[in-house]
Amino acid sequence: MTNRMKLIWLTLITLALPMLFTTAGSAAQDSAAAGELIQAEGWQLVRDNCTECHSSQIIVQNSGNREVWRSRIEWMQSSQGLGELGPELEGSILDYLTSNYGQKTASRRQALPVHLMPSNPNLQAN
Ligand code: HEC
Repeated sequence: MTNRMKLIWLTLITLALPMLFTTAGSAAQDSAAAGELIQAEGWQLVRDNCTECHSSQIIVQNSGNREVWRSRIEWMQSSQGLGELGPELEGSILDYLTSNYGQKTASRRQALPVHLMPSNPNLQAN
């Protein structure tokens, strides 16, 4: 390859790389913005039974263990007009929800240890 060819290739790659990342980034954002359900086993059951009254956005932004999800379903049944699902359907929906939107361990990072904190000008003995 001549030096001139190398230069052309290098320029093309340099120009093309950022484009690649911008498209991938916006595609990810699109699906997050649309609140799309993770397409894992059982997702169609949730799409068919859970998006009649509200969008899937409200589901994907929630998380919890099985009991938490069960209590949400019971709450919607007792106060929002969600019908009985039956044990089998409810079980499959709970399987899907707990494995894809399970309990988060922590929503905030831990505090810094004291020795890594900046000194506080408002505290005199520091
Ligand atoms: C009959 C109507 C209806 C159906 C069907 C329905 N929901 Fe709901 N759901 C509601 C209403 C109404 C709210 C409250 C919406 C709001 O706060 O804007 C709600 C809220 C929620 C919330 C938020 C609860 C919170 O604590 O903020 C979640 C999560 C949820 N639904 C999940 C589901 C799932 C999973 C299903 C399927 C099993 C489902 N919904 C089916 C009516 C329904």
